[in-house]
Amino acid sequence: MKSATYILGISAYYHDSAAALLKDGEVVAAAQQERFTRKKHDAGFPDDAIRYCLEVEDLRLADIDRIVFYDKPLIKFERLLETYLSYAPNGFRSFVAAMPVWLKEKLYLKSVLKKELSELAGCKPKELPPLLFAEHHQSHAASAFFFSPFERAAVLCLDGVGEWATTSTWLGNGASLEPLWEIDFPHSLGLLYSAFTYFTGFKVNSGEYKLMGLAPYGQPKYADLILDKLLDLKEDGTFRLDMQYFNYCAGLTMTNSRFDELFGGPPRKPESDLTQREMDIAASIQVVTEEVVLRLANTLHEETGEKNLCLAGGVALNCVANGRLLREGPYENIWIQPAAGDAGGAIGAAAVVWHGYDEQPRKLNSNNSPAADRMHGSYLGPKYAPEQIRTELDAMGAKYTLLDDETLFSKTAQLLADENVIGWFQGRMEFGPRALGGRSIIGDPRSAEMQSVMNLKIKYRESFRPFAPSVLWERVSDYFEQDAPSPYMLFVAPLHQELRIALTDEQEQLFGTEKLKLKRSQLPAITHVDYSARVQTVHEDTNPRYYELLKAFEQLTGCGVLVNTSFNVRGEPIVCTPTDAYRCFMRTEMDYLVVENFFLDKKEQPVWENDTSWQDEFELD
Ligand SMILES: [Fe+2]
Repeated sequence: MKSATYILGISAYYHDSAAALLKDGEVVAAAQQERFTRKKHDAGFPDDAIRYCLEVEDLRLADIDRIVFYDKPLIKFERLLETYLSYAPNGFRSFVAAMPVWLKEKLYLKSVLKKELSELAGCKPKELPPLLFAEHHQSHAASAFFFSPFERAAVLCLDGVGEWATTSTWLGNGASLEPLWEIDFPHSLGLLYSAFTYFTGFKVNSGEYKLMGLAPYGQPKYADLILDKLLDLKEDGTFRLDMQYFNYCAGLTMTNSRFDELFGGPPRKPESDLTQREMDIAASIQVVTEEVVLRLANTLHEETGEKNLCLAGGVALNCVANGRLLREGPYENIWIQPAAGDAGGAIGAAAVVWHGYDEQPRKLNSNNSPAADRMHGSYLGPKYAPEQIRTELDAMGAKYTLLDDETLFSKTAQLLADENVIGWFQGRMEFGPRALGGRSIIGDPRSAEMQSVMNLKIKYRESFRPFAPSVLWERVSDYFEQDAPSPYMLFVAPLHQELRIALTDEQEQLFGTEKLKLKRSQLPAITHVDYSARVQTVHEDTNPRYYELLKAFEQLTGCGVLVNTSFNVRGEPIVCTPTDAYRCFMRTEMDYLVVENFFLDKKEQPVWENDTSWQDEFELD
């Protein structure tokens, strides 16, 4: 018998569809659709994610009190229409390309949504729970503030675009979230970054973090050019783009031939060799992005006087900018929504209804821990019971042994210290783009080989990309120049001076990715070429099993750090089920797999009948 109030939030039809469920204002489930369909950034109606959310509380859709969508399609339509009209006739081609989709699916989104929901519920549209709509940036802001540990905070949202806003600022206080000011389309820091993502040959809306990873190989030679020609940046951080260099209003690409002229030729072809030009461009746009974020955050601080800052929107996944903001900015505390992109809009929209529409008060997490926010460590996805794991593993003919906790942790720690690469699957799946020890591939950060082994034999991805460390929370400042919690791997920090190994001048002159092969620290697998690392602090209260494993590894080796990369291969969404995990394990050169207390040794597995290779199954990201 249901007694609580349930609100279901949905984000869909743009990228990263997701669903989230609030029970009396507390998030009890959230997941991205891509994890179920195995299609990265799946933007379709999130029926699987919704079904999952309902299962967690044993509900039918009819039991939900209110359903809410994360943006307002009519306002978005108005923005498209106005943009195309103001760029006519140049915009006509993309207008024609985009409009049929819009007219069919998005303009009538309310009826499309109702149709999908009623199919899922097996009822008539009019029997569905009430369907509400929140605004896009309001959803982002709510996802950041309402789930943060702060009673009061300034809130900054930065993304590509939703309806009109691309940058928005808010003041959060208790259960209220008041809008302050915004910057509107086409002036967008997210779209500027995406334009460079496109120009350097990476995929827009997914390759942005690759561009960020490439930046330390280059010099910011073009930063002045960007500020002279493309971006009119004011002292207070507000900005305007010079639209004559961009094509996203009028055409089907991000940049145009005038842009090419500024940067010495056409965009890099995807998958072709990276040159110094792309590295210098990456460094330049990164520096400019950091400057904009710092100035905006400063202005917001001057205006509000708040000591806490919350961030959301796709740009908030730029953890290098976040790290600088933490070290150089005016705020005492910064909290970032782990699902900062549009997936997080689902959870934010639901909170908008609970606090705004239903006018319910907001409770903070009373737990006295540095990770005590309201996201439960972002472990909000499916979890599997032993019987279910056994059934799935047996169905694939997997060979396993069951270990008790103590043996499991000590054995896994020993195998890690022997330089094995291990698939680590336990607890609930993470919500958001980062694996945080629930669906991770882990290794020994002290190993000189680990970085290239993981890139080439496990992930099959570009070799310039570094890996991230998970560190025991208590020991974060022993390894990194950071003492704030970073449970969601959203801050980059410099590695401690004494762990660094100085390179010779000759070595420093090496080109691009050759640099990454040099052992530049005691923890080479997680040290980027500029001695930085994308840190995850691991906390006993939010992920006790991962914490236990790190403790066991520390006891054995003295090292309180592990390499943590997401459990997937390139182009594949992070694994969700034990079946996904086993398939990924068997298709790569991973040595061992741990699924809760099930322990699997690659050498003991039957020959894997290679159904389809992952290269055919997953499109490159
Ligand atoms: Fe967004």
